[in-house]
Amino acid sequence: MPLTHADTPLRLGVNIDHVATLRNARGGRDPDPVRAALLAQQAGADGITLHLREDRRHIVDADLPAIMAAVSLPINFEMAATAEMQAIALAHKPHAVCIVPERREERTTEGGLAVAGETARLGAFIAPLAAAGSRVSLFIAPDEAQVEAAAAVGAQVVELHVGAYCDYCAEGDEEARDAELRKLFSAAALAQDLGLEVHAGHGLNFDNVGPIAAIPELVELNIGHFLLGEAVFVGLEAAIREMRRQMNLARM
Ligand code: PXP
Repeated sequence: MPLTHADTPLRLGVNIDHVATLRNARGGRDPDPVRAALLAQQAGADGITLHLREDRRHIVDADLPAIMAAVSLPINFEMAATAEMQAIALAHKPHAVCIVPERREERTTEGGLAVAGETARLGAFIAPLAAAGSRVSLFIAPDEAQVEAAAAVGAQVVELHVGAYCDYCAEGDEEARDAELRKLFSAAALAQDLGLEVHAGHGLNFDNVGPIAAIPELVELNIGHFLLGEAVFVGLEAAIREMRRQMNLARM
């Protein structure tokens, strides 16, 4: 039994939220997130990720069943821990549900979930989702207390928030970047020791993905905004294939 997954290719979950952002900018149907999901599948994505936010600023309710019906890939449904979202997840039973913190005024998911302060509520919240057959993932900062709390509440997966690492990369702050990377390495190792599957995401691009993809315990990366931006210039398929190539390179 290998102790790490470094010898296996990393799964790439493609987040297609921002195809819907563009669609919603004009109303109507174009560009269609279903078409993007099908193209991502063709380009070698291992899963499709979508985040139904409370304010429906990108993905809307009808997108989830439409995408589930169109693609054969596993669907990772990101949502806040609210009764409304729980009912939607229970109605559709996606392969995975990733619980994320959500604040109406934020531009994107800005931090990790405060699992450690909310174990009773989150434990009760995720139990029916797991019982319905969805793999439950918690989106957390690379912090020991949050990893331990995620294991304690019965999550099967943690997705480590790499946003701070990506910000330090963009700012060129090498010291802070390396400190954050060390946190990510040790959170991933702890999570695996506690029996959790480890994913990561938020803010990844061609420049910063290498060191993250090299974290041996990682099984999946979820990437959206950069891929969609890159797609404007080279097409979605080419952007996904290049990301896959860089992930595989970092894994060698
Ligand atoms: N993973 C989670 C849990 C997220 O909330 C997001 C952003 O919605 C992503 C991954 C993808 O982040 P990005 O769009 O920056 O690649």
